[in-house]
Amino acid sequence: MDGRDLVRSVKAVGSGGAALGLRTVRAAWRRRRTDATGLPRRGAERARVPGPVEGAEPGPGGGVVRFARSELRIMVAVNGAVFWGWDGAGPEPSYALAGGSPEPDPRAVLEPDKDGGWRVVAERVTVVVSRHGAIEVCTPGGVTLRRDLPPRWWEPADGGGARWMQRSEVMPDARFFGLGGRATGPRLRDGTYRLWNTDPGEPFVPGDDPLYITMPVQMVVADAATHLAFYDSSWDGTVTLREGGEGAGSGHDRAGTCEVRLDGGPLRCWVMVGTPARVLLVWASLTGAPALPPAWALGHHHARWGFGTEQEVRRIVAGYQERGLPLDAVHLDIDHYDGHRVFTVDQDRFPKLPVLAEELRRDGIRLVSIVDPAVKAQPGDTVYDSGNAEDAFVRDASGRVVEGVVWPGKAVYPDFTHARVRQWWGGLYEERLAQGFAGFWHDMNEPVSFTAFGENTLPRSARHALEGHGGDHREAHNVYALCMARAAYEGLRELAPEERPFLFSRSGWAGMQRYGGTWSGDVATGWPGLRASLSLVMGLGLCGVPYSGPDVGGFDGSPSPELYLRWFQLASYLPLFRTHASLRAGRREPWEFGDDVLEHARVALAERRRLLPYFVTLAHLARRTGAPYVRPLWWGTPEDRALRDCEDAFLLGDSLLVAPVLDPGADRRAVLLPRGRWYDTATEEAYQGPGQVLIDAPLARIPVLARAGAVLPVLGEDGGLELEAWAPARGRSGGGLVVPDAGDGWDEPEIERYVTRWKGKRVVVRRDGDDGRSEPLYPVRIRGLDRR
Ligand code: GLC
Repeated sequence: MDGRDLVRSVKAVGSGGAALGLRTVRAAWRRRRTDATGLPRRGAERARVPGPVEGAEPGPGGGVVRFARSELRIMVAVNGAVFWGWDGAGPEPSYALAGGSPEPDPRAVLEPDKDGGWRVVAERVTVVVSRHGAIEVCTPGGVTLRRDLPPRWWEPADGGGARWMQRSEVMPDARFFGLGGRATGPRLRDGTYRLWNTDPGEPFVPGDDPLYITMPVQMVVADAATHLAFYDSSWDGTVTLREGGEGAGSGHDRAGTCEVRLDGGPLRCWVMVGTPARVLLVWASLTGAPALPPAWALGHHHARWGFGTEQEVRRIVAGYQERGLPLDAVHLDIDHYDGHRVFTVDQDRFPKLPVLAEELRRDGIRLVSIVDPAVKAQPGDTVYDSGNAEDAFVRDASGRVVEGVVWPGKAVYPDFTHARVRQWWGGLYEERLAQGFAGFWHDMNEPVSFTAFGENTLPRSARHALEGHGGDHREAHNVYALCMARAAYEGLRELAPEERPFLFSRSGWAGMQRYGGTWSGDVATGWPGLRASLSLVMGLGLCGVPYSGPDVGGFDGSPSPELYLRWFQLASYLPLFRTHASLRAGRREPWEFGDDVLEHARVALAERRRLLPYFVTLAHLARRTGAPYVRPLWWGTPEDRALRDCEDAFLLGDSLLVAPVLDPGADRRAVLLPRGRWYDTATEEAYQGPGQVLIDAPLARIPVLARAGAVLPVLGEDGGLELEAWAPARGRSGGGLVVPDAGDGWDEPEIERYVTRWKGKRVVVRRDGDDGRSEPLYPVRIRGLDRR
């Protein structure tokens, strides 16, 4: 038991009493015992490499290259993505792919290359296979972006799945991003990152790794091009990254390197090449379009573990209303459950939840419910009984239902990798809808079992259906939450077909955006936590998960008024804008930090509300293009190396640049600007990029800049939609997209395109349509005019 384990069991004791503490010790022993008998022993292993090439057979989009001890299948798909798989691995089955494998590109053909190798030439990429099985991904111009060396397998001498290792080289100037939600980033520096979804057990700080969402997805940005590589296996593993270096004329260039080691699963990879926008477009076409949150979910959410009673919820809501502060959603945590049992309500403390929900809805406020996967193991509990009747719970190798310990005490876990179990679980949301909940917050789904020592999850030997092929937790663990999200999403679609489901989940995997978003989990209160929360949002966006945000103020402790305010200001520009904290933490209502903070928070809330149409537009664009709302500064100019290393500011869509204050005591900050002209939205002062400028950041606001020529939709003073256009530089033009809100159903509003340009001494905005240019549909306000 190390220090951290101790903390964890003390935490469990603190939150659930001595009985729960004792249970965590028992659970840890039980877990060990189960694995000792249930896991195959790793005996002697034999190492293998592909060996020399022996021949090749062309096939659709590529073909199969045969080596002495393995074979490699290559396929370029119509969407431009490249697939390769060793040892007979094909693209399916896969938990990441949205609709199966895309069609092969019929124009891509396998042909002999020099030195006995083979290559596939496609429109956007050339793939070269050496005679020993190295795979190079090259731009059409012939620059090698990535070189995967011949892989190596270790096979148990007495049969069974192999573990494997894949080493790759990337351009010397390349930077790595992604791998899911990482607290130290978004640029992933040299080090080893683990692929095993993990509840750190206590609030995390930068450096804690892994966290709740890990993905074998890396985005690699280099001068020559950006690429995304995805090793499609859900098994436990590590990724070791080392940035390269350029000789700068005096020495040799050193390639960047990446070493992926996985404990099992197919050795297969997808690679997409192009600009960052193109790469994420292809990624979304492969793994699914991000779910579109309803407009209310793009407003302000207030959560708390420990509201305690209906009266307390009403009191908080009244607090917002009396002060004229916008509020769009209230989240109820586990304390509204009866004995922490999922899909129940504590009738003493929440006697009329549907009435409360209805009242709030009339005021434009939605209720969101936490949903934990673990079900209290208690005969008589409806969910437990119906789950047993469905044979829904995970069993161990001997056939016994696996028990863990979570908030309700002894608990069992649905096997979401079984379609029948998903169907059953999805149906349970009917109870939540009847209580009046409009959205769902999946938690503890790594999944967690409190144990006093060792890993706080299910035994690795626990059995899972894995869609019929059968396997154990080593393979199912990382996709557990993804499958839970699918169960909920599909259930809600059946239960309330008219409404788009809204859910976000603490854990997940590649493709989770199909069902919803996420939040940053239990980030530690403190300035480092504030920085980590931005890293997570940006990194996840580059893995295709555009909707997320932090617990404003951090999960634990009591933030200083300044820290709270800076967190609030940052989050007001992130897709999920939510205040939340632990049972044991200080309060998080904006009025709890003094009058100044209240007034500045009011400004942030009002600006968020004003920008709502812009957020709605960004949500639609994310769904249609895979582009995250929150983008690194290098999004449009990945060859700008200074921007590539900038981690403390971001682009919000195409139009805005947000530079949050991440350090105490600051009243101005340096902001790195991409090329072009930028206006400080507070002062309308104009700056010219590329370059670095110092911008005022008094407590009242964080710097937000608008791109010259941008046209963005906002709410006008009368509550109607209005276009805000920022004057283009003289002689230049600009524009922007608007996707109007079409309600919470499935209507697909059209994208409206606006252009702006100088006409004599005036700036004009026109709608760009099939029938030429016409007057905009909304009132227009031109800004930045006095600052030419
Ligand atoms: C976990 C969640 C947190 C929640 C708490 C109680 O720590 O991450 O958001 O408040 O559990 O449900």
